[in-house]
Amino acid sequence: AAPAAVASVEAGEDGLHVRFADGAEHRFDACWLRDNCKCERCMSQSGQKHDRTILPGSRALDMLNCEVLDDGETVTIAWRDHHGEEVEYEASWLRRFAYSHGAIEDEQASRAASFYHAERTSSKTFLPEVNFADVMASDAGVWDWVSRLEKDGFCMIRETPVEEGTVKKVANLVGSCSHAIYGETFDVKATPKPINIAYSDKALEPHMDLAYYESPPGVQFLHCLRFDEGVKGGDSTLIDAHAVAEEFKLRHPEHFHILSTVPATFQKDHVDREFPVRMFYQRPHIHTNYLGEVTACFWAPPFEGPLRVREDFVEPYYRAYHAFRTLLMSKEMWDKYGFLFRLRPGDLITFNNRRMLHGRNAFTSETGARHLQGCYLDADTFLNKFRVMSTTMSQDVDILGCDERFGTSSHR
Ligand SMILES: [Fe+2]
Repeated sequence: AAPAAVASVEAGEDGLHVRFADGAEHRFDACWLRDNCKCERCMSQSGQKHDRTILPGSRALDMLNCEVLDDGETVTIAWRDHHGEEVEYEASWLRRFAYSHGAIEDEQASRAASFYHAERTSSKTFLPEVNFADVMASDAGVWDWVSRLEKDGFCMIRETPVEEGTVKKVANLVGSCSHAIYGETFDVKATPKPINIAYSDKALEPHMDLAYYESPPGVQFLHCLRFDEGVKGGDSTLIDAHAVAEEFKLRHPEHFHILSTVPATFQKDHVDREFPVRMFYQRPHIHTNYLGEVTACFWAPPFEGPLRVREDFVEPYYRAYHAFRTLLMSKEMWDKYGFLFRLRPGDLITFNNRRMLHGRNAFTSETGARHLQGCYLDADTFLNKFRVMSTTMSQDVDILGCDERFGTSSHR
């Protein structure tokens, strides 16, 4: 029998106990099983649920009979109120969605482990990368890129044509670009009197783009069109903010509590530009799920406006903010979770804008040109493509957990 086949079932006061062929045991609450019943009476034709009204402990949830059929592939339950029918559950489905006996904890632990760029400990030069020609050639090439980006938080695409618009062409393999306030694509180059610090030759501390949006972009693309040898500096930086925030929680629990509860102000208040902007969004820097694990970290110092919180939270906020920034900028964190590289013309760096903070070192703009072209994808657009492709490519990936890496599952 397959490992996910069911060896035996037993209905008890506390739900259904299922023993699988490989020895794993799981318990399922009666209300949960009933809520996930797929019988004709519970589901509409199009697969939506329309009966969610049975209270835990109700007599209707008595399991009168439970059986294992089809060599363990199917479990049937006869509910007291369920017109005497046997309702079927697929064994593989039960196994996949099992939540007892530490199943959720194991799942969370394996998600957490993948935050830590394990490959880095063995190789300081670890940099996930794919080749443009491979990405364009087949779905397997797209999947290779998309799945690395999902897992590692970023992926370099090498040897892209040095042509304007390429960045959009690549993004469109996943979906439509986000129409942000900068337009569908934007150009990052040093200009006199820049309207944004990014368009100067100054250093940029690690930050998330568009943190003042209700939903900041999920993926950012930066395509290097020109980077003259004569330009000194200008190296790109990336650091895993989720990993740093987890370390912050262990080292400074009180500060962590403040940064995960007190709302900071993110803003872009700039009316005097071609497309006037007045955007404000208040949210804590760090978001956690119901288990206290970090699911999002919003950090964009140049776009943080006046704090608007009750007076007794002001000083604690600034202390916590300072402690986080100190940790984020420490050599220790950069050695563990940071990346530094000089883009070459033809390099297209793609990264999770909500997990990997990005920045750059200052550079000399008199000695040559540096030109990047960028665009964004919404987190939902990317995650949808990732999940759909995991099915078409028959890859077993964590389709529920992937949104934690994009900070879209705050559970708050
Ligand atoms: Fe940026």
